[in-house]
Amino acid sequence: MENITKHPILEIPDKKKIKFKFDGKLLYGFEGMVISSALFLNKIRIFGHHKKDGSPQGLFCSNGQCSQCNVIVNGIPVKACMTPLKVGMIVESCNGLPELPAEDDPVDVGDSEIIEIEVLIIGAGPAGLSATKILGEYKLKIILVDDKDRLGGKLVLQTHKFFGSQEEVYAGKRGIEIAKILGQQVQSLPNAQIWLNSVCLAVFS
Ligand code: FES
Repeated sequence: MENITKHPILEIPDKKKIKFKFDGKLLYGFEGMVISSALFLNKIRIFGHHKKDGSPQGLFCSNGQCSQCNVIVNGIPVKACMTPLKVGMIVESCNGLPELPAEDDPVDVGDSEIIEIEVLIIGAGPAGLSATKILGEYKLKIILVDDKDRLGGKLVLQTHKFFGSQEEVYAGKRGIEIAKILGQQVQSLPNAQIWLNSVCLAVFS
């Protein structure tokens, strides 16, 4: 097993060891980590094979954007880099195109609501956060949507210090710190709603 126990910048909290299975093999990971981290921990780098030429698939963007890390959990394809590991999870490699469940099982989304808003911003990375901040200061009503569980987009993966202008782009600060600063700025806007863990499928106007 490979596990990072010390990091020069990030804190590594103590986590509970949990069991899961990958392609029938019993493995261990830690609570709170995503499936891809648990597979890497067990020295598994190949999560499946491409449908076209059988080339190995695995981590690529590590940020939920490419689907190259797809695995099958309980018969459903999921992104390994975005899906938290759970106790007893049965994970299978994704070889070729994943098969959809034989029984169509529509998700009950409950009563829908029509919302009218002046500005819809999709994506809470640095551009989306900056746009929300600037438009929010003009008192526009905004919804900021992001499919991740936290604000910052790629900034949350960046531990290096930025360069350039201190005033314009927070030079000298790390990406993870900039994500926090921008996040706090938009969270303090009374006219901005923030929807995390939300996917924007279509916009009607
Ligand atoms: S590695 Fe790109 S979505 Fe997971």
